[in-house]
Amino acid sequence: MADEQSNKQAEAKKSFLAKQKLIESSKTSFQLFSAVLKSASLYPEEHPILRAAAEKLQSNTEELLKDRNEVAFYLMGGELFFETISIPIDQNLSSIIEQFTERDIGGIVFKPEITAMEFIRFAGMMNKEKDLFAELISAHERMAKEGIAHITLHRAILVDKQMGGAIKAEREKASDIFTDAINSLKEVVQAVYLNKASNMRKVTSVIQTMVDYVLDDKDSLIGLTNIKMHDEYTFAHCVNTAILAVSLGTYLSLDKPQLAALGVAALMHDIGKMNIPPEILNKPDKLTEEEWKTVQQHPVEGALLLSNVRDISKLAMVVAFEHHQHGMNGYPAIEGEHKRHPFSQIISLADSYEAMTSSRVYYTNRIPPDKAIRILLNNRGITSSPALLQSFINMIGIFPVGTLLKLDTDEVGLVMHQTLDLMRPRVLILTKFDGSEKETGELTSLVETTGGKYKRSVSGIIDPNMAKIDVKRYFD
Ligand SMILES: [Fe+2]
Ligand SMILES: [Fe+2]
Repeated sequence: MADEQSNKQAEAKKSFLAKQKLIESSKTSFQLFSAVLKSASLYPEEHPILRAAAEKLQSNTEELLKDRNEVAFYLMGGELFFETISIPIDQNLSSIIEQFTERDIGGIVFKPEITAMEFIRFAGMMNKEKDLFAELISAHERMAKEGIAHITLHRAILVDKQMGGAIKAEREKASDIFTDAINSLKEVVQAVYLNKASNMRKVTSVIQTMVDYVLDDKDSLIGLTNIKMHDEYTFAHCVNTAILAVSLGTYLSLDKPQLAALGVAALMHDIGKMNIPPEILNKPDKLTEEEWKTVQQHPVEGALLLSNVRDISKLAMVVAFEHHQHGMNGYPAIEGEHKRHPFSQIISLADSYEAMTSSRVYYTNRIPPDKAIRILLNNRGITSSPALLQSFINMIGIFPVGTLLKLDTDEVGLVMHQTLDLMRPRVLILTKFDGSEKETGELTSLVETTGGKYKRSVSGIIDPNMAKIDVKRYFD
């Protein structure tokens, strides 16, 4: 039994590391492609610098092609994907993504036996003949004539036109905090796996920046928690939980060092999940009893993992252990009365809300925020103390920042701030619900009245993925 458990853990560790490696090498491949595009705009075809860049790209692509029939990159809703894996976009990649967006290219596929020369020729075409890409058929014909037989392009079906702008804005502080937090968490996980010393100083500094930002303008970070992260669900979940916990902490007037400790503990709360095999973690169907037992191990595993991390506070361990200690269904089971640390209660509440409202494999559709709040209210006193829950609701509102609302005027409003009336936030009017009108950019409060009646009221919540509205760009 113990053997089986450690085998499973070894498997999970192996697949985690393999996936990180694949993310790295596919990202490198795209970066090299971007370097070739840049060099091709500066140097003639025969130039050694351009040649060297293309050869590097060719050999990297060949490496990736060893285990697959094609190397495919896609751009969707402002994100870059290699196959189905989301690749983090940094500043280096923003110009190539802009180039793709301008040409309406949503996907590029490299086939086996592609040569360095094909990359160079294609880069030349991309740089010089922008209009050629207006018609994909003629672009492919031209490519064939130029001997580019191993590259295919796809139209940007789902690409948001605003994406270029959104990616530019990605450099902005709020997104950086999100990305930095994910990366620093990943580093800790990797260090734990490789038995290396982890860099807690970096984690602390990321969280301190997060705390400063929340103290300054909590709404825009909460807005960012709406970003979906696909494959990297667990990491995104931990960062979102940290943002929500720190926001609740500021609402409760904790001081800065306390907020930082709370943020670090929240970021680490699910670290024990890294030991759960991904097939279980990502299983869409109901878990078997055996699998559920494995999942229930994660608080204990987490506390144990953290006990090996140098420079981490004891509090983070306590929170990892206690964050599912609520009510009758809480785990791990403890005999007798157990009073949880207040930070565990804050993080546990942020955790439950985040898990319910984020889209992930367990649910085809995420639970809208107002429903999630209702579920929490139904369980008040069991999963969280009524007073703490009330503070959370006051802080986040019934319709949290970043929620898309259907209004009774047939407009779509994006929640930007809370007002004193929890049912009537301040919204940015985006479009008519039938999509017939463009964003008006009008910021208005649902508290506003005319002739004694409310001008606008909420009639429902819209799933941003369904509406294909890139909510994130409004918070950058
Ligand atoms: Fe958990
Ligand atoms: Fe969690």
